[in-house]
Amino acid sequence: MRSSLIIATWLSLGAAQTHAFGPFEKNVAARAGHLNAATAALKPFLSQNASVILPIDKDWDALQIRGTSPRIHPNFNAIVEAATEEDVQKTVELASKFGIPFLAVSGTHGWTKTLNNLPYGIQINMRKLNSVTVDPSGKTASIGGGTLQWEANRALYAKNKQAVLTLCECTSVAGPMLAGGHSMLQARHGYTLDDLVSARVILANGTAVTASSSSNPDLFWALRGAGQSFGVVTSLQLKLYDVPSTWTISTFIYTSDKLEAVLDAVNKVDSDATRSPNLVLSGVGKRIPPMDPENPVILYTLSYQGPEAEAAAYFAKFQAIGPITVKPSTNVNNVELYKVTQNSVDSVACTRNKNSMGSGVSLPSWNTTAARAAFDVFSKMTADPRFSQSVFLLENYGMQGVQAVDPSSTSLSLEERQYPAVANPTIWWNGTAAVGQADAEAYGEQIRQALFAGLPKGAKKHTYVNYAVGTEDFNQMYGYDTARVQRLKALKKAYDPRNGFRFYNPVPLA
Ligand SMILES: Cc1cc2nc3c(=O)[nH]c(=O)nc-3n(C[C@H](O)[C@H](O)[C@H](O)COP(=O)(O)OP(=O)(O)OC[C@H]3O[C@@H](n4cnc5c(N)ncnc54)[C@H](O)[C@@H]3O)c2cc1C
Ligand SMILES: *[C@@H]1O[C@H](CO)[C@@H](O)[C@H](O)[C@H]1NC(C)=O
Ligand SMILES: *[C@@H]1O[C@H](CO)[C@@H](O)[C@H](O)[C@H]1NC(C)=O
Ligand SMILES: *[C@@H]1O[C@H](CO)[C@@H](O)[C@H](O)[C@H]1NC(C)=O
Ligand SMILES: *[C@@H]1O[C@H](CO)[C@@H](O)[C@H](O)[C@H]1NC(C)=O
Repeated sequence: MRSSLIIATWLSLGAAQTHAFGPFEKNVAARAGHLNAATAALKPFLSQNASVILPIDKDWDALQIRGTSPRIHPNFNAIVEAATEEDVQKTVELASKFGIPFLAVSGTHGWTKTLNNLPYGIQINMRKLNSVTVDPSGKTASIGGGTLQWEANRALYAKNKQAVLTLCECTSVAGPMLAGGHSMLQARHGYTLDDLVSARVILANGTAVTASSSSNPDLFWALRGAGQSFGVVTSLQLKLYDVPSTWTISTFIYTSDKLEAVLDAVNKVDSDATRSPNLVLSGVGKRIPPMDPENPVILYTLSYQGPEAEAAAYFAKFQAIGPITVKPSTNVNNVELYKVTQNSVDSVACTRNKNSMGSGVSLPSWNTTAARAAFDVFSKMTADPRFSQSVFLLENYGMQGVQAVDPSSTSLSLEERQYPAVANPTIWWNGTAAVGQADAEAYGEQIRQALFAGLPKGAKKHTYVNYAVGTEDFNQMYGYDTARVQRLKALKKAYDPRNGFRFYNPVPLA
């Protein structure tokens, strides 16, 4: 009775204003009060296991913590923990009807600044939509929209299966996939989005649809490359593979003067037509004072899904460069893999509630002159004690699988399919967001521009959507190819004409 009274009041208040976004958004404080009431009034319409959480509730604070809070802090005033697809649908429907901003939250590791543009609104927490089911064929799995990487990986491994999951265990499956999904299996099977078979999607107006090659194919195309701008995915169906083997892994640790030699070796191995798709190349620059008190060192890891004998020739090339030391691991299974590569839930990479910022750059190959200039900035930055824990990611996961996919079949940019090398300075610092933020951004930008300065003539600047800072222009993330960009914008207009999905490196309406 009481809740329907409140919702009735809310509905009439809202109804008068739906068409008038301007005044509606002016008085945020007054609206927040209404929003709490409206969201609470949703409760009777939600499933038994759903909850509505308001700032007075004990779980509130914990649900504001993100991978990179306080730097990233969407300004929520109510949370709906959805437990079914219908819960998501009802919440989006309410939000859509009254122009209330909302944002889905799964792994909380989204780190683009555009997430801070949420002025007020509803967090749709997806974590209760956490499930992994191997479909009867054994060739696909159905994965809940709020499932995390580690949950999916372990559930699949228990059945001797693997899928194109990403590297860090702590992100969700859906989040990375919607704009790509860089993975240790991409050289064989493409990005995560290339393995999407179908998805259940809640559109901006609250309608639930299936997107696949046969159902809403336009939406399916847009979802795979710009998904966060198009809907909330409540479940997704991914291709599965039998686990073929364990992994053989070696981490070579070098002094920083070997940067050019390492990147030359990477360019050679990576561009060789006979490069094994079982091989993953990834490096990290970071300070380890006991190893080198003056400069960052380079940890370069070769991971091979297969026996040591097959990997040996690759390992020999990196041994020949003259590492300080080598850490070998053999017979690593798909669960241990994350620990060995330092991407597990309890790794530094997965730390929560600490400022971190990526500044992604994708490149057609490593230009060692430009990489040296960028690394010098990184050295200088990490000599500043505030940023001493930052890392410089140097990734070449392999592109055969990615390039085997017809580029017109998804909305993913051409550069994202073509450029094999990804640099991502990941800057960490303590304290409140404002302290250090401007300096971190300036360093990130300097590193990025140094790398872009090494692009061959005519090559376009590209940043992986999921590694963007949030200051990039649309083409740098979504590509330069006019037909693709026009189609993406036209579909945005058709599926989300009021721009409800506008907080994650958004595809603009016009
Ligand atoms: C520590 C770390 C490790 C990373 N590792 C990798 C990696 O190995 N490979 C890679 O490709 N990328 C990686 N990334 C980048 C990653 O792809 C993005 O940060 C991604 O946005 C994380 O998604 P999330 O669900 O964890 O975060 P969230 O902040 O919960 O979500 C990010 C965005 O996706 C939207 N979203 C989340 N769930 C859904 C859903 N079910 N339906 C629709 N929209 C949804 C959210 O609304 C938000 O806009 C990493 C980032 C970090 C910080
Ligand atoms: C609610 O959650 C419990 C515990 O996870 C589960 O056993 C039950 O099936 C759920 N109920 C519904 C209606 O989904
Ligand atoms: C950041 O905080 C952590 C935890 O309090 C501490 O261990 C670390 O030394 C701090 N780092 C810097 C650079 O201040
Ligand atoms: C490499 O980068 C430098 C800038 O750092 C640039 O002057 C040079 O032309 C680049 N080399 C190639 C082959 O593109
Ligand atoms: C919701 O949006 C979709 C996509 O634009 C549209 O096809 C559908 O008719 C809309 N539904 C309602 C009820 O407006």
